[in-house]
Amino acid sequence: MPAITLVGAQWGDEGKGKATDLVGNRVDYVVRYQGGNNAGHTVVIGDQKYALHLLPSGILSPDVVPVIANGVVIDPGVLFEELRGLQERGVDTERLLISANAHLIMPYHRALDKVSERFLGKGRIGTTGRGIGPTYADKISRAGVRVQDMFDPKILRQKIELALHDKNQVLTKVYNRRGLELEQIYDEYLGYAELIRPHVADTSLVLNKALDEGKTVYLEGSQGTLLDIDHGTYPFVTSSSPTSGGACAGAGIGPTRITKVVGILKAYTTRVGSGPFPTELLDEQGEWLRRQGGEYGVTTGRNRRCGWFDAPIARYATRVNGITDFFLTKLDVLTGLDRIPVCVGYEVNGVRHDEIPMTQTDFHHAVPVYEHFDGWKEDITHVRSFDELPKNAQAYVRTLEEMSGAPISAIGVGPGRDQTLELRSLV
Ligand code: IMP
Repeated sequence: MPAITLVGAQWGDEGKGKATDLVGNRVDYVVRYQGGNNAGHTVVIGDQKYALHLLPSGILSPDVVPVIANGVVIDPGVLFEELRGLQERGVDTERLLISANAHLIMPYHRALDKVSERFLGKGRIGTTGRGIGPTYADKISRAGVRVQDMFDPKILRQKIELALHDKNQVLTKVYNRRGLELEQIYDEYLGYAELIRPHVADTSLVLNKALDEGKTVYLEGSQGTLLDIDHGTYPFVTSSSPTSGGACAGAGIGPTRITKVVGILKAYTTRVGSGPFPTELLDEQGEWLRRQGGEYGVTTGRNRRCGWFDAPIARYATRVNGITDFFLTKLDVLTGLDRIPVCVGYEVNGVRHDEIPMTQTDFHHAVPVYEHFDGWKEDITHVRSFDELPKNAQAYVRTLEEMSGAPISAIGVGPGRDQTLELRSLV
């Protein structure tokens, strides 16, 4: 039975939490497969608003098993704080499963993330400062600490000691910071072992068995396609693979299991942090989009950079993820505009590009080529079917669909659970 993957089709913050919540009661497992608490999913249920960073959105649906799979990096302090916050609001968190193979964000990862960004100055990536990059770097260089290491005190101590051997050199000698204490970190992480133990499982085995039994597994990507370590605007990317291929490695399931890839696409574009963004609006129109769309980061509170819809980016997302369906979010934010510009290509040094240029240098110099579409003035937040949308809004959606290369199967017209038009089932 189906494994469905959900991916951000732009630079993250497309509204993935809302999409997961929409299908939450129709799936059996909701799995995070990459990233960590750099993510920020907002889910609005009735008058309650939940901001999740590390936990899968499925934790809010009582019949779903939420899973943090092997590809995720876990800051245990944040994990337990987030769990406690939900428990205090009456959410049952006992079902949560965590992979024994997931890597741990350690205090030195957070410290290094912050000092290296400061050191980069103007060239900084604009990371969330949560230690994501340094944790994945240690994973790849085979120096990481995994969830299962907390169950073997000797190994845990050895690994932290080994890591501190060079991290403290870098912190003190390169960055002129204070070194970190082995005993303090060891005691803290050993203390997490018994708290995390009831949740820890061979999540790859659990998910494959579930699929064999005909259950539906929903693989929830964080960040977005253009923040992917391979396919994003490197180096202004996150350190994991949010694209659909990453879902297989990050959850321990084979590609033949995935039957659907849902791309989440905002009706305009936003980005947090540094890096190229051709349609960015640095004038009052950008400010208008930010205000209308509430484009302030869930994780860091930073203003999001805002711009018009970029069709080559959507097409690129379709290509690298194999997107079968789009969920178009925040259409209501564009209400009130006379004309809506859509980027249909770029000009780079006088040369027209219909797709994202091959090199980052060219992408940095890409000047958007716009087509303009008629806007609408009617409030669409109460609309519940496609036919009820104003004609110009329908035409805008159809245009984006044509340009993006996959059908738009759902449309968001507001933040609430019920403010969604589902044109075709996403599950
Ligand atoms: P890191 O993931 O903290 O290393 O940050 C790397 C880049 O990804 C920065 O530009 C961040 O702003 C961006 N980023 C990380 N997580 C998110 C997210 O959930 N939404 C949007 N941008 C993100």
